[in-house]
Amino acid sequence: MNSAEQFLQDRLQERTTKGLFRQLINTTLPFDFCSNDYLGFAKSPALKQLIEAQVKNIANYKNGSGGSRLLSGNHPYTEETEQFIANFHQAAAGLIFNSGYDANVGLLSAVPQRGDTIITDELIHASLIDGARLSHAERYKFRHNDLNDLAQKLKNAKGLIYVVVESVYSMDGDTAPLKEIVDLCKQHQAHLIVDEAHATGIFGHKGRGLTVQLGLEKDVFARIVTFGKAVGTHGAIILGSTALRNYLINFSRSFIYTTAAPIHHIVAINCAYQLLTTNDYPTQIAHKIILYNELLRNINLPIIKSSSAIQTILVKGNANARNAAAGLQEKGFDVKAILSPTVAEGKERLRICLHTYNSDEEIRNLAEQLKTLQ
Ligand SMILES: Cc1ncc(COP(=O)(O)O)c(C=O)c1O
Repeated sequence: MNSAEQFLQDRLQERTTKGLFRQLINTTLPFDFCSNDYLGFAKSPALKQLIEAQVKNIANYKNGSGGSRLLSGNHPYTEETEQFIANFHQAAAGLIFNSGYDANVGLLSAVPQRGDTIITDELIHASLIDGARLSHAERYKFRHNDLNDLAQKLKNAKGLIYVVVESVYSMDGDTAPLKEIVDLCKQHQAHLIVDEAHATGIFGHKGRGLTVQLGLEKDVFARIVTFGKAVGTHGAIILGSTALRNYLINFSRSFIYTTAAPIHHIVAINCAYQLLTTNDYPTQIAHKIILYNELLRNINLPIIKSSSAIQTILVKGNANARNAAAGLQEKGFDVKAILSPTVAEGKERLRICLHTYNSDEEIRNLAEQLKTLQ
């Protein structure tokens, strides 16, 4: 065996020994408490029909885009969709990326420069961490949702300052104190970047996100909205000023050096946004979140308080968390354990996602089953 193959085997063996070997799985469990398809859009027949009908109206339809947006991959419909989504979220402009990962890497690697400072909540998503790592700016973390720690970090910051948070945290499900963070940013002339991946479709009128719900859209420098969660499709948009959009078109490498999404996909995103406006989905999901929290109040389990579709039950230790998930899976509940090092050691957990399509009975049955973990 050559040395690179040996290296791969050794690393994989190390993971296996620690019980951390990752494998691709195909889930067939009947009760979905795992996916990020909070509003059921990914499996919505109504959305499928809308896409099929509207894709027929696209002029110059091609199966693939044929190149990057700057070469042959642009389409007037894509730019119309960007403005439609920007208007929905009450932003001046927006630029679509092929994924949330690409958007976050493309934003943070391109905007902050050497001599600038990026200050991030310690629990931000890996894509934001990777983007910040690619930047030449100084980087600091502040303790999760800790305003005093953020204020301290802001005092020492140099150059242009960027504060990066999520409105809803992907593993804890809790929300950032956005209003207070905006106030601190104003005091220190810092620019706020908010990842709304898990708030879109859940918070704000018709799902416009937490920033809009709190009326803070004018106070935020950039927002990232991903389409793979409540929007039920794939991709992401960075929302901000027209100057930010033009800057990213010129300097963001994960936008420039990649093939544009096929137009069929852009139609899917556009249709998902049309669907969002037809119903009050945030109220529908809020009903499920309230029911779940009411049921959990009577069960003595360590949880992280959350008003979002992401709920957690802390189960200390990888083996314990994995066993707890396995017990639920045996009963048909698709609940996954989140293990360390994905979360800090001692903070292993069950991550329970609620959906509009989880019946009240399913949620009650899940709560009954959770009682066995007490
Ligand atoms: C907070 C957050 N930002 C960004 C992403 C990445 O988005 P995508 O899955 O579209 O790459 C995720 C997805 O896991 C996320 O949870």
